[in-house]
Amino acid sequence: MKLAQFSALFFLLLLLPSLSYAIEATNHEFFMDCDNNDNYHVGKSDVDLLEFPLNLEYLEAEFFLWAAFGRGLDSFSPDLAAGGPPPIGAKIAKLSPLIKDVIAQFGFQEVGHLRAIKKTVAGFPRPLLNLSAESFGTIMNDAFGHTLEPPFNPYANDINFLLASYVVPYVGLTGYVGANPKLQSPTAKKLAAGLLGVESGQDAVLRTLLYQRAIEKVEPYGIPVAEFTSRISKLRNKLGHRGLKDEGLIVKPKEGAEGKIKGNVLAGDKHSLAYDRTPEEILRIVYGTGKENKPGGFFPKGGDGRIAKSHLGKIKKSEG
Ligand SMILES: *[C@@H]1O[C@H](CO)[C@@H](O)[C@H](O)[C@H]1NC(C)=O
Repeated sequence: MKLAQFSALFFLLLLLPSLSYAIEATNHEFFMDCDNNDNYHVGKSDVDLLEFPLNLEYLEAEFFLWAAFGRGLDSFSPDLAAGGPPPIGAKIAKLSPLIKDVIAQFGFQEVGHLRAIKKTVAGFPRPLLNLSAESFGTIMNDAFGHTLEPPFNPYANDINFLLASYVVPYVGLTGYVGANPKLQSPTAKKLAAGLLGVESGQDAVLRTLLYQRAIEKVEPYGIPVAEFTSRISKLRNKLGHRGLKDEGLIVKPKEGAEGKIKGNVLAGDKHSLAYDRTPEEILRIVYGTGKENKPGGFFPKGGDGRIAKSHLGKIKKSEG
């Protein structure tokens, strides 16, 4: 290679990284999270949007692992719990072999999700979670507008556990749909798409298992499975305060796909696209209070990460 060519090449190599840096930096204040295997390039607003779903992923990981195995992250992956308090009231559920097998898979999938997010953003330790039977019982009472007798117990059998599970991955799914257009970097978008894909899959599996039993009655209440799902969805619409984003398994035909069908194995808008939710809508729902600044429900002390904490007055919204 001639000297002139060599120095031109050298100059180009020198220039390239700073060029791409300049392009990214125009969008965002910029920093990197590095680990042994990868270099990640994720801007600050992406970091906030990616760490927020850790709240839900922790909830799902503990709920599913405990239900299937009678032990959770502290046993399977204490590094991911990172010293956060153990969940309140999580237990093994009385499940048939098929449902137990599916839920065990979901549990490990959530461990993977936690690991993937925490490889990309620093995140936070497991927040305090209330996974007690009473916590789910309260949701069901709120959904029906009166106290169920005996109290609803998510851990009692397959159908109760599937109904309790109906409460969770769907909310995460709508969050990933909502976050997608706000994400800037390819790394963040790729991660969110990967998470969305599997959360949607979990939701579809749960809905299908429930759909097979849609007209069966949940005992001892004598209330059909489909009615439970529409009540839960209605409650979430109410708590979220942003209109219709949640639908039960059987709907009025005009709410079904193409406005033509009452079976509703998957929820979707008028074009059968997944609904989106903001972090605030999600907090209102998982706190069970309808207010992003009023913790409760599954998160007695609130969620963690900048977005959730900004609403709890722990950090200013514009700070950092
Ligand atoms: C867990 O939730 C139940 C039902 O809302 C509540 O009675 C209980 O006090 C909660 N536990 C904690 C520690 O917040």
